[in-house]
Amino acid sequence: MPREQAIENHELIATRQDYGDDPLAVRETNHYRQEYVKTFVEKWDELIDWDARVEAEGQFFIDILRERGCKKVLDVATGTGFNSVQLLKAGFDVTSADGNAAMLAKAFENGKKHQFILKTTQADWRWLNKDIRGKYDAIICLGNSFTHLFDEHDRRRALAEFYAALNHDGILIIDQRNYDAILDAGFSSQHKFYYCGDRVSAEPEHMDEGLARFKYSFPDGSEYRLNMFPLRRAYMSRLIHEAGFQKIDTYGDFQETHPEQDPDFFVHVAEKAHPDAG
Ligand SMILES: C[S@@+](CC[C@H](N)C(=O)[O-])C[C@H]1O[C@@H](n2cnc3c(N)ncnc32)[C@H](O)[C@@H]1O
Repeated sequence: MPREQAIENHELIATRQDYGDDPLAVRETNHYRQEYVKTFVEKWDELIDWDARVEAEGQFFIDILRERGCKKVLDVATGTGFNSVQLLKAGFDVTSADGNAAMLAKAFENGKKHQFILKTTQADWRWLNKDIRGKYDAIICLGNSFTHLFDEHDRRRALAEFYAALNHDGILIIDQRNYDAILDAGFSSQHKFYYCGDRVSAEPEHMDEGLARFKYSFPDGSEYRLNMFPLRRAYMSRLIHEAGFQKIDTYGDFQETHPEQDPDFFVHVAEKAHPDAG
């Protein structure tokens, strides 16, 4: 491997996260590469217990994709491969992308355990189309991943890249933690969705309008942190609209949301096709 490549993929060998002297000041889009270090990635599947997650999500994403006739799906936040593997099992043609090399390596390993060879591509969302080929019927960006973008320009840029990678009638499925609830009323998550491993705790250490810093504690005493941007739901919908998507349906915890409900997660399903396009 050329030296610059080895440095570029430092997360493949790094064992410790580095937030420097002032962790609350770390509010950078690029930092996700250093946060998901190899040792944290190895633990990630304890955090998101696959069996419990299959149970929680059910057929939700599969039904949405099938209803719209989607076949070719790009998972832009593959992580350890959970959604890619579920969609491959359901018969979709899946390409698995992620900007973090340690995550992609783990996803490939997990794919093999389920008898799949994942089609992986290392790609950062901000310049996604530089690294992927062709157009897709659907893009999924799940597991509260978009929260890693700290700069509004990066968010707009990523959504523009997703839009460009979709066929004319393609859809984007993107989820987010219900940060409004945490910012406005404090943390009350039951850890029911996504973060399903019951021996692992995920709790906010710090919250302000520009930073959600979460601590993840594991049974062996190890602790990891993630610094994320607390996306408000209305802001997120507006950004998706402004990227050119014509229609957005938002679900709460895999069901159609009613205003009085206060789910842990929101799932936005955004359609590219203009209603007049025929
Ligand atoms: C919270 S994990 C979710 C993984 C998976 N979707 C799941 O639900 O288990 C977020 C993923 O987004 C990836 N990611 C964050 N920012 C990114 C960016 N700018 N470009 C590409 N991948 C990014 C991270 O590397 C990480 O694998």
